[in-house]
Formats: sequence, C-alpha cells, structure tokens
Amino acid sequence: MVIQVAQIGVGYWGPNLLRNLVASPNFEVLTAADFSPERRQYVEAHYPRVRTTSDPEEILGDPRVQAVVIATPAHTHADLALRALGAGKHVLVEKPLATTVADVDRIAEVAVRSDLVAMVGHTFLYNSSVRYLRKMIANGDLGEIRYLYSQRLNLGRIRSDIDALWNLAPHDVSVAQYLLGDPDPVDVRSFGVDYLQPGVNDVSFMDIVYPNKVLAHIHVSWLDPHKVRKLTVVGSRKMVVYDDVAENKIAIFDKGIDCVENLEDRMDYDDPPFPTFKYRSGDIMLPKIAAVEPLRAEISHFAECIERGEPCLTGPVHARKVVQILAEPAAVPVF
Ligand SMILES: NC(=O)c1ccc[n+]([C@@H]2O[C@H](COP(=O)([O-])OP(=O)(O)OC[C@H]3O[C@@H](n4cnc5c(N)ncnc54)[C@H](O)[C@@H]3O)[C@@H](O)[C@H]2O)c1
Repeated sequence: MVIQVAQIGVGYWGPNLLRNLVASPNFEVLTAADFSPERRQYVEAHYPRVRTTSDPEEILGDPRVQAVVIATPAHTHADLALRALGAGKHVLVEKPLATTVADVDRIAEVAVRSDLVAMVGHTFLYNSSVRYLRKMIANGDLGEIRYLYSQRLNLGRIRSDIDALWNLAPHDVSVAQYLLGDPDPVDVRSFGVDYLQPGVNDVSFMDIVYPNKVLAHIHVSWLDPHKVRKLTVVGSRKMVVYDDVAENKIAIFDKGIDCVENLEDRMDYDDPPFPTFKYRSGDIMLPKIAAVEPLRAEISHFAECIERGEPCLTGPVHARKVVQILAEPAAVPVF
C-alpha cells in the first residue's frame, strides 16, 4: 500500500523528512506547504513532482491526502496536528508533539476516537546505537542501571520561539525514558539561564529522579565551544558511553566497583563482616553497529503503524511523559 502524504513546513529540518518521504516506497508525496516562498522554491527545485502551496488548508482539505508530516515550529504543532486529525489524516509531528500535556491529551483523544495514527518524531529512538543500548539494558548486560547523564551542546542554531531545553532536550528525555522502560519520574528539576535573549534560556541543566535511585542528568546548550552529543550510562556490571559524533558510537566498559564482604582471616561468623570495595577495570568493547538513517527508520515505522493500526513506539503515550517532564517548571535563578 502506498500512502499519499503531504508535508507542512520545509525550513531547516523539514527537507530531511521530505527527502526520506520521497525516497520511501511506502509513501507518495503529493504536496508541501510552507509560508516562505524561498522554501517553496527549494522544494520545486529539488522535487519537481511535489506540488507546493503557501496554505496548509489546501493539504487539510485535499481528500487524497491520507497522512500529514508536520515540521513547523513547536508552538504550531498541536493546532496543526489537531486540524489534520480532524480532517481524517494520520500525523507525524516533529518534536515536541505539543508544548503542554493538555494538548498531547487532546491529540491522543482525537487520534484514538478517529482510529488514526499520531506519532512524534523523537528521531533518536530510531537510531541504531540507541536501540543497541536499549537491547543491552533490557538483556541485563549492564546489570542494574544506576544513573545516566547526557550532553547535547554546540555553538549551535539559536531559536527565539523556544529555549534550548524545549529545542534540544526532547531528544535526551525521550532517550532516557526509552532506555529505562518509560518509567514515571519521582522528581524533575531544571535550571536554565538566558544570556542572549530575555526569557529564552541558552543553557539548561535538568535532573530527573526515577524510582529505585536511578538518576538522569541532562545538559543542553546552544552556547558552548564544543559539539557534544554524548550519553553515559552507569550500570552495576558495565558502563556504556554513546557518542553520536564519534566513529565508534558505542563503547562498553567492563568497569565497576563491587562491594564484597570480607572476612579476612578472622573466621568470626557471628560478627558481621566489613564490606570492602573491589575495583573492576576490564576490556573496552566497541561493537560494530550497522547504521540506518534514523529518519528512514522513523518514516517506515510511521507507514507500518498506519498499515497495521498498531501503536507507535513514539506515539502519544511516550510523547506525553516527555512533554510532562519538559513542562515541569524550572527553578528561577537569583542574581
Ligand atoms: N528531529 C530532529 O532531530 C530535529 C532537528 C531540528 C528540528 N526539529 C524540529 O523540526 C521542527 C521545525 O524546525 P526547523 O528548525 O526546521 O524550523 P524552521 O523555522 O527552520 O522551519 C519551519 C518552517 O515552517 C514554516 N511554517 C511555519 N508555520 C507554518 C504553517 N502554519 N504552515 C506552513 N508553513 C509553516 C516556516 O515558514 C519555516 O520554513 C521543530 O519542531 C523542531 O523541533 C527536529
């Protein structure tokens, strides 16, 4: 089955989605809408078979369009997604699905009622390295997960419509949730500061406390000298570093500290033995992971969910927790 699709928003990120949609055997791209004449010209130059329009209503009112991909700024997502679902179309919405939990709930409710797919583009859940890591954790290879921390830093694209936390951390929060099996956090705290534009934080530090003493720390910034996309997971048996900009993206460290009860030569079994610490520092393994472009995997998952009517990996249930975590009020800095 070939799904007739249209896309709204072809700015910085939209072209990556459009390229994958055009290349996909699952989709036929009918139309792309963008307010900007330059962005429409871009589409016309690269994809002459895709019709362009400045008016998304043309897409929503086109009965041939079965699915809509939305790659517009975050504050427009909920309204466009609800209108597309209301017009009977499946939606793939760029992250974040919405900027409030109430809007995620509205999207979920309309999608379920209309038997339509609503999916969010949490691209890293379609990344081969993240999936490899998830498998390792689920198999128990790392032992019990103690804590993880991630950094998404760059002297990067600055936005004015949302801050660095909402722009960058949806990825890290969705990865943390995915790796840990989508738990409900016990506590969420974040702290960010605006240096360049009033009210738009350039850097944020977020802490998520999960049950069983599992901690996640997320550092995002578009005001940093280094391009870093790194996640470290510390387990009781092994530790893993996922470095998205390195050649070997996953490094598995056979490292840890074990508590061992040490009787030494006292042979006094009535007296509780003192624990001592045994350091393990074994091999570092760099597994070879076959890479597939995450957006390609994401788009083919969207097609599968539409065809089979199955829930998406990044459907509203997953998206709700990510938005809920991001929407926790940040601490106000005192200067
Ligand atoms: N998954 C990822 O890794 C990733 C990376 C970057 C951006 N994104 C997401 O992609 C989305 C778009 O980001 P961007 O950086 O491309 O933004 P952008 O501002 O560069 O592009 C947005 C485009 O949408 C158009 N637009 C806005 N509202 C519209 C409407 N109602 N109808 C038609 N066109 C409209 C604008 O003219 C613009 O060309 C955001 O949600 C962002 O979070 C995802």
